[in-house]
Amino acid sequence: MSDIERADEAHGQPGTTLAKPEGGVPDRFENPGLPPHKHRMGDTDPKAAKRAEHQVVFFLLLSMLGSIGIIVSIIAIKYDGSFDQVSLSTKAIGLSMFLSLFALGIGAVHWAKTLMPDDERIDMRHRQRGTTAEREEAVNILKEGAAEAGLGRRPLIRNTLIGALALFPIPAVFFFRDTGPLPGNDLSTTMWKADTYLVKDPEGGRIRAADVTLGSVMHVLPEGIEELEHPLNEKAKSAVLIMRLDASLLTEKQNNWGVDGTVAYSKICTHMGCPVALYEQQTHHLLCPCHQSTFDLTQDCKVIFGPAKRPLPQLPIAVDDDGYLVATDGFSEAVGPSFWERG
Ligand code: FES
Repeated sequence: MSDIERADEAHGQPGTTLAKPEGGVPDRFENPGLPPHKHRMGDTDPKAAKRAEHQVVFFLLLSMLGSIGIIVSIIAIKYDGSFDQVSLSTKAIGLSMFLSLFALGIGAVHWAKTLMPDDERIDMRHRQRGTTAEREEAVNILKEGAAEAGLGRRPLIRNTLIGALALFPIPAVFFFRDTGPLPGNDLSTTMWKADTYLVKDPEGGRIRAADVTLGSVMHVLPEGIEELEHPLNEKAKSAVLIMRLDASLLTEKQNNWGVDGTVAYSKICTHMGCPVALYEQQTHHLLCPCHQSTFDLTQDCKVIFGPAKRPLPQLPIAVDDDGYLVATDGFSEAVGPSFWERG
């Protein structure tokens, strides 16, 4: 049976009265049936069907053009630091992406509306799981639908559709490439290493060990950070606090990694990376203002309150021949949020 014959059979039939269920509520209305079916031009006129096919192909080709436009825009428009260039790149990528998606969508909708089977079929309600015969029939209907979609009969549409769909995800590769180099181990390392001098934040200048008085706290950065290409990125990892307290209050490790009671700790909270900026001199607690994680300086900066899960990492320091504080090594573990700690 052809598509047209099947459509005619399903439409224009007089309404039927719903069956009265045994012992159930009587029917209160009649099944109105379906309105008369109107054939599309492509159903009756092969020329119109051919024209519709060409229109679908045109939109799919347009979509391919858009996908290629995205790639060309990313490669051809180089960022030179000017706002105009960023604006041009954004517009070119946006317009190309619009063309790619819009044309793909229009092509698919036009194909469905003009060329795919247009007959409506009536299926009565039944229990959720069909019988074996019904399930087999469903599989057959699916197969029939796939055949009716005409992918075999219309190789031009099939091929351009495959081309459009295959090309569409490729711009994503260029987008990801454009987001910059992979971070590598940047997140788990800092610029601190042996012989890096401690300087005051923000005024700069090396720190004499003798200038750190008992009970004081200083905000510290590694010397040379301002000369880096991205000093703020490094500052977000390398900021350090130094505090001086009675050496007898410190653990053996702290004394070994410190200088006469002066110890250096990462300022980056191990919860979510806020700066641990508050030091309670009386209790020797360091406090993170974001979610109140509290670290006990006299217990290797162990967490004694709040959501942080691990102690602040300690920076090993020493004093040089001229009396300045200098790191003897980098941090032995990743600084910052605990999710950075990956075994
Ligand atoms: S970031 Fe410090 S407690 Fe949340």
